[in-house]
Amino acid sequence: MSSSPYAVRGPGGDPIRFAYWVPNVSGGLVISNIEQRTSWDIDYNRKLAQTAENSGFDYALSQIRFTAGYGAEYQHEPVLFSHALLAATKQLKLIVAILPGPWNPAVAAKQLATMDQLTSGRVAVNIVSGWFRGEFHAIGEPWLDHDERYRRSEEFIRSLKGIWTEDEFTFKGDFYRFNNYSLKPKPFQKPHPEIFQGGSSRAARDMAARVSDWYFTNGNTPDGHAAQIADIKSKAAQNGHSVKIGVNAFVIARETEQEAKDVLNEIIEKANPEAVRAFGHEVKNAGKASPEGEGNWAKSTFEDLVQYNDGFKTNLIGTPEQIAERIVHLKTIGVDLVLTAFLHFQEEVEYFGKRVLPIVRELEQQRALVAA
Ligand SMILES: Cc1cc2nc3c(=O)[nH]c(=O)nc-3n(C[C@H](O)[C@H](O)[C@H](O)COP(=O)(O)O)c2cc1C
Repeated sequence: MSSSPYAVRGPGGDPIRFAYWVPNVSGGLVISNIEQRTSWDIDYNRKLAQTAENSGFDYALSQIRFTAGYGAEYQHEPVLFSHALLAATKQLKLIVAILPGPWNPAVAAKQLATMDQLTSGRVAVNIVSGWFRGEFHAIGEPWLDHDERYRRSEEFIRSLKGIWTEDEFTFKGDFYRFNNYSLKPKPFQKPHPEIFQGGSSRAARDMAARVSDWYFTNGNTPDGHAAQIADIKSKAAQNGHSVKIGVNAFVIARETEQEAKDVLNEIIEKANPEAVRAFGHEVKNAGKASPEGEGNWAKSTFEDLVQYNDGFKTNLIGTPEQIAERIVHLKTIGVDLVLTAFLHFQEEVEYFGKRVLPIVRELEQQRALVAA
């Protein structure tokens, strides 16, 4: 890995990885009434996971949602749903969303260790800090202030790591306590399953720079991503920690740029304004509520929010060649993984694997961004 966050990776770098959002909630990944040939049911998702692993995807990210928010009227629980997808695949890794509050680290560590054993090491976890106050209210969970949610998440991550790696784990935190706790069996992966985390606020970035293996950004412009990555990597280096970067993007790959742009315009034209505005209102409890007012969605426009993780901003919208170029550019600014979403997941994951990914791999070789 290069020492400067801005430097182009030299020979010896890893190929950029790909993940997709598991549609385990209804309504797809855009808040729009446009036709979406995507389903949240298990049969669709099993087939999608198989297609994804055969198309060159390494990871799938499941979502945690307890109540509807922006559509997403129906929501499957991510631990069990991820396990069903692991059972239907051979290589794909499932990044399981876990929400501190409803979950405590003892239960999560135990569930994920068992899943990791059952699948010979195909589990990862995404620690979600929460932005949706109404959801917490609905299930009777106390709602903490923004930065307190991250303090809790950090203790959660430290607890997971301790439980997974220490013979006898003792921890005295403000949120969690353990006394000579021995988890047996430990997870299959050593030292432990990878720990992902998202969020754009100061608290989210600082947590990533201290304890997470991976940091997920929301969608952003290349300059925006470069600044975020530089900030996190330099903070991590000061802490003697290293963190990999995953970038969110809504992909619209079509044979012509015009076709791709037309699809984007149609998604936005057919947006469900009430649901987008309701979402816009709820996310004010996220980064905007942080002391520096800088988190996810703090600067998002109505159009941005139609993809609820700002995925249009990353601009993987165009021809396969254009998209591959932009992905390779992301790699040169320090991105290790692109987290993708699509309008019609099944057919577009397949198309991405056939048309975009081979160009990415070729460009990585040509530009000596990977080991020969
Ligand atoms: C890639 C990614 C996946 C996320 N998945 C979920 C999820 O499944 N459920 C959820 O409630 N929040 C999810 N989040 C939200 C974050 O955990 C966090 O609460 C949110 O980004 C607010 O961060 P901020 O206010 O610190 O910027 C996700 C965020 C990202 C970037």
